[in-house]
Amino acid sequence: MDKKEAKKRISKLKKVIHYHRYLYHVRDRQEISDAVLDSLKHELKKLEDQFPELITPDSPTQRVGGKALRAFKKVKHRVPMLSLEDAFSSEEMQDWLSRGAKIESATSRAELFSELKFDGLALSLIYKNGILERAATRGNGNTGENVTQNVKTIEAIPLKLEIHAPLSEGMKSKVGHLLERGLIEIRGEVMITKKDFEKINRNQKKEGKQIYANPRNLAAGSVRQLNPAITRSRHLDFYAYGIWTDVGQKKHSQEHEVLSTLGFKTDARARVIGSLKELFSFQKKIARERSRFDYEVDGIVVVINDNALFKKLGIVGKAPRGSIAFKFTPKEATTIIEDIILQVGRTGALTPVAKLRSVKIGGVAVSRATLHNEDEIRRLDARIGDTVVVGRAGDVIPDIRKVIKELRPPRAKIFHMPRRCPVCNSILVQGGVILRCKNRECPARHREALCHFVSKKTFDIDGLGPKIIDALLDNGLIQDAADLFELKEGDLAPLERFGEKSAKNLVRSIQSRRSISLAKFIFSLGILHAGEETTIDLAEHFGSLQSLGRATKEELENVLNIGEVVAKSIVEWFESEQNQKFLKKLLKYVTVKSPKKIKGKLVGRTFVLTGGLESLTRDEAKDRIREAGGDVSETVSKNTDFVVIGSEPGSKLDDAKRLGVKIIDKKTFLKMV
Ligand code: IVH
Repeated sequence: MDKKEAKKRISKLKKVIHYHRYLYHVRDRQEISDAVLDSLKHELKKLEDQFPELITPDSPTQRVGGKALRAFKKVKHRVPMLSLEDAFSSEEMQDWLSRGAKIESATSRAELFSELKFDGLALSLIYKNGILERAATRGNGNTGENVTQNVKTIEAIPLKLEIHAPLSEGMKSKVGHLLERGLIEIRGEVMITKKDFEKINRNQKKEGKQIYANPRNLAAGSVRQLNPAITRSRHLDFYAYGIWTDVGQKKHSQEHEVLSTLGFKTDARARVIGSLKELFSFQKKIARERSRFDYEVDGIVVVINDNALFKKLGIVGKAPRGSIAFKFTPKEATTIIEDIILQVGRTGALTPVAKLRSVKIGGVAVSRATLHNEDEIRRLDARIGDTVVVGRAGDVIPDIRKVIKELRPPRAKIFHMPRRCPVCNSILVQGGVILRCKNRECPARHREALCHFVSKKTFDIDGLGPKIIDALLDNGLIQDAADLFELKEGDLAPLERFGEKSAKNLVRSIQSRRSISLAKFIFSLGILHAGEETTIDLAEHFGSLQSLGRATKEELENVLNIGEVVAKSIVEWFESEQNQKFLKKLLKYVTVKSPKKIKGKLVGRTFVLTGGLESLTRDEAKDRIREAGGDVSETVSKNTDFVVIGSEPGSKLDDAKRLGVKIIDKKTFLKMV
C-alpha cells in the first residue's frame, strides 16, 4: 500500500473505530464484537507504524477512555481506574514476565495470582467509616459517573462493612480502625448471569425495546438506568477483585481474603500460581469450563502477587506493568475479500468461496471462507473488495459473518452466480438455495467423487491425495474409481513426483484395500444425500449390497432415520445403467463384507470418546466399537454408557463426571473391544 492509499484507509478506519467506541463506551451498545474492534485497531496501528507521519492526535490508538453520561453526576476517582494490557498466547505471557524482569529482576521468579476476568462493568466503591458512601463507574479512568443510588439496589454489595471472619494480625487493627474512622476503596465487577441476560432480552424483544448485545452491555445499561427500580429488577451481581487502600496487605491474595472477610463475593477459582507452566494449565482449564459458568468470562487476570514488587513495576500508558489480562483467543478477525471463486463438489453443488487476504484467527492463518450459496451472499451483501468479519468457531471451517460496509471501496464488485457450470459448461439447476451441476460426467464432480472414494472414511487409501488423482486423470490412467485397482507400478513410476519406490508403495496400499465393510462401500459410492450415518443405517438394515440395490422407495422409507429425499436419491442411483456398470466393474476387484448380525458383546452400549488414544485414531476406535455391536455418540448424556478418556480429554470428561457416567481409560477400552 502506498502512502496515499494508506491515508485514505486510515481515515476510514478511524471513523469506523470511533463510531463503535462511542457506541460501546458511551451508549453501552455494541454492534461488533470486541475481537472485531481489536482487529480493526490492529490494522490501523500497523498502518500508522508503517507511516508514522500519518498519526494524528485524534487517532483511537492515541487516546484513553470515553465520555461520562450526562444524566449522572461526574466524579473524580481518587486513584485513576486503569485498564489492563491484553495477551492472547503463552508467548505473550512469557514476554510480559520478561519485560517486567528487565525493570525488576525479581519479576522472573515472582509468585503470581490469577483470577477470572469477568466480563461486566467495573465499579469503584468508597466506604467512609464503614458505610457505602459512593459508587462510581470507570468512565474515562479519571472521571466516572456517580451511580450510588442504583448500586445500592445490588444485594451483593454490602451497605455497611463488617468483619465476618478473623483477619491475620498485620491487617486486623488497620481494617478495624478504617471501619471506624477512615476510607476504604474497593473495586470489582458488576455482572448479570447469562440466563438473566437471555430472559431480559426475550422480554425486551416482546416489548419492542432495545436488545442488548451481550451480558456486559446489559450490566452496564442496568447500572446506568435513571430509575433505580429498573436496576433492582435486573438482579445484578458483584464480584470484588481488589482494595485500593492500605489495610496492611502485602500480597494481592491477601486482598481477596480481606474482601471476603468484609462481606464481598470474590472469585472462588482465584489462586496463587507458582510458575508459568501452572498458569498455562490453569488457563486451559478455565477455557474449557467457561461455557458452563453462570457468568461470561473473557480471560483470566494475572497479577504479580507481591504488592511491593507490583508497585515498583509501575505503569506503562494506562495499564500497570504488574498485571495483565490473559484473554481467550478471539474467534473472529477482519480481512478483505480478494476474490470469490466457485467450487463444484462431488454431488455437483456449487459453493461460492471467498479468497481472503490471509489473516490469523485464534492462532491459525485463514485465507478462504465459504459463502455457502447465493442467498447467503445477498444476505451479507458481500462484494469483492469488501472488508469482512471472519469467524472460526471451534474446529469448523471459517465463515464470513458480516461485511463492514463503511469500509467498502468504490470499486467493490458484486458477485453473480453463473448460469453454467464453470468446469463443464452444462446448465445449472437450482434446488432450494443450492445450485447444482447435474452433469454426471462433469470433470470437477468426477474428481471430487474420486477424492471421496479414497478418503479416510471410505476406502482409506494411504498416499492417494487430490494431487495424485489429478495426475492419474490428466494422464488418462484412470476413468473411474474401479480403474485404481488395475494400476501397476510401471503406470505410476513415469509420473512426475513418482519414483519406483513410491509407485510400488501406492500400488501396495491400493491393493491392501480390496476388502471393505458394507457401510463404507455404500458411502464410497457418493450417493446424493447418503451421508456417513445414513450409510451405516442402510448397511445394518439391508445386510448386503444386493438387497439394498433391490429395495423400493417405500422399503427404504421404512428404515429408521431415512426420509423421502434420501430414499428417492438411493433408488435413482441404483436405477442408472451407468452406475450399474460401474458397480459390476468395481465388484470384480472389491469384496464387500456384510455386517455380522448384531451379536457383538457391546450391543446396546453407547460410547463417547474424548482426548487422544495414541495407537488408535478416532475413526479406528469408532470402527472397533461398531464392529463389536456398540454405538458411538459425540455428546455425553444420561444414555451414554462409557466415556473413554485419552490424553488431554476435553469437556466431555467433565460432562461425564457431572452426569455420573462411567469413565474408562484406553487400556480398559481396548480390552472391551
Ligand atoms: S484488575 C488495572 N481483576 O477488566 C485494572 N480487573 O481492562 C485492575 N476486570 O475495567 C483491574 N475482572 O473491570 C481486574 N478479576 C479482575 C477483573 C477485572 C474483570 C475488568 C475490570 C477492568 C478491566 C481491565
